[in-house]
Amino acid sequence: MAHFLRKFKRIANQSSSSWRRPVPLFVAQDNASPTKAPQVDPKHFQPLGSWSTEDIKDAVSSHVMCTWSPGKAKNSLPIITHANHIYLYDSDGKEYMDWTSQAVCTNAGHSLSPRVTTAIHEQMNNLHFVYGGIAMTEIRARLSSLISELLPGDLVGCLFPSSGSEANEAAIAMARRFTGRPKILSFYRSYHGGTKNSLSATGDYRRHFQQDSSGFVKAFNFTPSFFEHAGEDEAERVQSALLMLEEQIISEGAETIASIVLESIPGSAGVLTMPHAYMQGVRAICDKYSILLHIDEVMCGFGRTGEMWGFQNYPGVLPDIVTSAKGLSASVAPISFVAINEKMMEFFEENPVGWGSTFQGHPVAMAAAYAILTEVLTSNLIGHVKSVAPIFEEHMRHCAEVHPSILNYRSIGLYGALDIATPDGRQPHATHEARTTATTRYFDSFRENGLLGLFRAPIIHIAPPLIINEEEIQEGFARQHRALDVLDEELGF
Ligand SMILES: Cc1ncc(COP(=O)(O)O)c(C=O)c1O
Repeated sequence: MAHFLRKFKRIANQSSSSWRRPVPLFVAQDNASPTKAPQVDPKHFQPLGSWSTEDIKDAVSSHVMCTWSPGKAKNSLPIITHANHIYLYDSDGKEYMDWTSQAVCTNAGHSLSPRVTTAIHEQMNNLHFVYGGIAMTEIRARLSSLISELLPGDLVGCLFPSSGSEANEAAIAMARRFTGRPKILSFYRSYHGGTKNSLSATGDYRRHFQQDSSGFVKAFNFTPSFFEHAGEDEAERVQSALLMLEEQIISEGAETIASIVLESIPGSAGVLTMPHAYMQGVRAICDKYSILLHIDEVMCGFGRTGEMWGFQNYPGVLPDIVTSAKGLSASVAPISFVAINEKMMEFFEENPVGWGSTFQGHPVAMAAAYAILTEVLTSNLIGHVKSVAPIFEEHMRHCAEVHPSILNYRSIGLYGALDIATPDGRQPHATHEARTTATTRYFDSFRENGLLGLFRAPIIHIAPPLIINEEEIQEGFARQHRALDVLDEELGF
């Protein structure tokens, strides 16, 4: 009997068509306890504002993560407890002027009018959420029609994702689906967002965090970093930049390019205003090759440059797709939009966009945006930006004139950038490289002097909330000068 069984086992083994491999050993871990400690820390049931600075720092150090910088940067961030108008206050009571509107987004400052807070509360109380794919709301209809009224030409269809990155993600999907073409052409000096396709469209150092950018082609901006296009004057330089762009498009195969994506005034890259003729030339190239022109207004939209849209600084240039975010709700709620022209709208009446998200068209975010937007219009905020822009520019010019560490300035509306250079005319370091002693000391002084803002050397961005007045501009630049004195000295001028 035993002999028979042994034989049977061997035959059974031989009849198996695959090799044997033991499944990996499972090591059980405790996943059943409702909390790591025996119970949730009672501190979580205390009201906001009751934690000590030490409690906050402990939680930050152990649990908070950063995004574009290594995580430990979080430990040197000021802990902001409250804000008012264009000022923020930290846990030591120190006051800072909001000198770059956070990430160029707190356009209306930090004191919300009762109209805005009431509109948000009412939407929350009446209907805080329905999913956009199964129900419609009055606020969605109203915000779509208002955005469409504010956009020129035949830009009519609107979608409301939650961030600028998502807006560009959706817009790229739409461009590809509408044209049936795979490639997206964008520019090296640009930022379009942190999600898959918007990061692939991005040209700055952050693109390298994305491992697969197939289907994305990069062109040089009119203002590359380390050379100038050939030509005796601006008109000739525009001509050579456009011819180079056209040649690149032909070499790629124009019929493979769905859209050209560009910021009307590249912001993160340093407020790179372009000659009118360059932007007009890009529009003409798009028309010649049936390529969609997608203008990213995430940073410029809603008045930053003294016009409602940054592209309105280029006479006659009308995009096919516009994306925007930040100023849409002035950062009161996370919301962005994509707007498309009539032809695309017709197409997407019959075809899905190919992008979606649970929180697109979130009623509370839309209510915040709608209230902010109607306030921007009734208070003539953009008229205010236009009126203070020359004063702002004068201060920008003065910075470049009196500080040897400043090579150059650019300024439009309340949107400015200073380029830092060392005594031998070079960048102190590239944006993705660690700060040097000089740039670190400058930034320490910037904060000590009561300014809070982005700092991505070799660019110093200056973009205060759009409600800033003349005296506050003057006060902000007085603080900026003190920090630039430190930079001059540290760089060895
Ligand atoms: C021009 C531009 N596009 C897109 C984005 C991405 O927007 P978000 O950070 O809201 O995803 C940004 C963010 O700074 C931006 O400046």
